[in-house]
Amino acid sequence: MNHLIAPSILAADFGNLQRDIEMVNQSHADWIHVDIMDGMFVPNISFGFPVVTAVNKHAKKPLDLHLMIVEPERYLQRFKEAGASHITVHYETCPNLNRTVQQIKELGCTAGVALNPATPVELLEDIVSELDLVLIMSVNPGFGGQHFIENTYKKLNDIKELGSRYNPNLLIEVDGGIDEKNATDLFKAGANVLVAGNSVFSSADPQSTIANLKQLGRQIGS
Ligand code: DX5
Ligand code: ZN
Repeated sequence: MNHLIAPSILAADFGNLQRDIEMVNQSHADWIHVDIMDGMFVPNISFGFPVVTAVNKHAKKPLDLHLMIVEPERYLQRFKEAGASHITVHYETCPNLNRTVQQIKELGCTAGVALNPATPVELLEDIVSELDLVLIMSVNPGFGGQHFIENTYKKLNDIKELGSRYNPNLLIEVDGGIDEKNATDLFKAGANVLVAGNSVFSSADPQSTIANLKQLGRQIGS
């Protein structure tokens, strides 16, 4: 399976968003990761539909929406209309997770479920065959620039095992505190999509940081 890189525009310069999206367009990035925070599920508010629509107007890579919001099922259609290709909801926000996943698929989007650091992977056993993607949070959601939580490697092992039993094509994404130092270990542990915010946008040369991350994935092979 391919190893993909998804820069998170939460760390972009919002005053120069078009410039930063064009940088990502011209880079080796595969997706653009878009963090939606509602100030309820997480203690921070990021941005909403008009910004996603504006990002989509300039983006030449698929938008990977990470919904850190309560009752995400109320907004799936609108995020699709705003330009989402991939939509990930949090396990912790979805009492009727199977229905929410089917709704995402009916919209024609890739359906993902994210797990907070304290949420065990085994809770996905009865739904993993229905999913396109599982997002393992390697920080507590809500902010960029936090320290990577080392227990993520154990969770990657668990989800890799679950995927090999029930869904060999499952995409495994990791999000938070990722840089050129831990990327190789994450790929080796089973991740195939890495989200990177600050390590890309705070870099002196974001395009070459993205290229380096991509190259680390290529070195692992498929
Ligand atoms: C955190 C977000 C992340 C964030 C990652 O809640 O889901 O996508 O942008 O940022 P870094 O890579 O800086 O930890
Ligand atoms: Zn995210």
